[in-house]
Amino acid sequence: MKFFLDTANLEEIKTVASWGILDGVTTNPSLVSKENRPFKDLVAEICRIVPGPISAECVASEAAAIVPEAKELAAIAPNVVIKIPVGIEGLKATKALAAAGVKVNMTLVFSSGQALLAAKAGASFVSPFIGRLDDISQDGMALVEEIAAIYANYDFPTEIIVASIRHPRHVIEAALVGAHIATVPFAVMEKLVRHPLTDIGIARFLKDWGKVKS
Ligand code: G3P
Repeated sequence: MKFFLDTANLEEIKTVASWGILDGVTTNPSLVSKENRPFKDLVAEICRIVPGPISAECVASEAAAIVPEAKELAAIAPNVVIKIPVGIEGLKATKALAAAGVKVNMTLVFSSGQALLAAKAGASFVSPFIGRLDDISQDGMALVEEIAAIYANYDFPTEIIVASIRHPRHVIEAALVGAHIATVPFAVMEKLVRHPLTDIGIARFLKDWGKVKS
């Protein structure tokens, strides 16, 4: 499974990149709004730090406006992926962009029907938001499972990015259902690597090591 970081914060990105396990980054307008930096500069800097796919989101609502906005963002770096909310205009834009060789991540996906249409339009990635479904008492991971089964039936090459992850268990469940990618907030990434018994174990080993004769 590939790990993306769900953030626009450069320090978080540099930190996780230094761990050696980072495959890409996803941003969205809310995440970008927390950083005090022009959007395109920020995307360019993230693309320099991480060589994998970097999602940058379009804000235009009509396909005729999404396509040029997407092409401008795609020109920032070869590893930019264009994030487009799913919908009729988004599908039209995705179809045109995919035909032009621009990779699209269809976002704000909350149903299998939306994911199926995204794949049909030629999206390279699809982002089901599982945490937001869990928040309204629906089973977010069941959606991921359903999308994975549908894509397997027809050999769609679209990769599933499990998004809106809230806790480490979401990451494990994404791996169990065979999702291609989990995009993980920094705080969850830190929790994923730690375990109190590991910390206790290290402290005990170091204490005992002090008693070993040299
Ligand atoms: O990648 C999408 C993600 O940022 C949404 O997360 O926590 O706003 O539901 P959240």
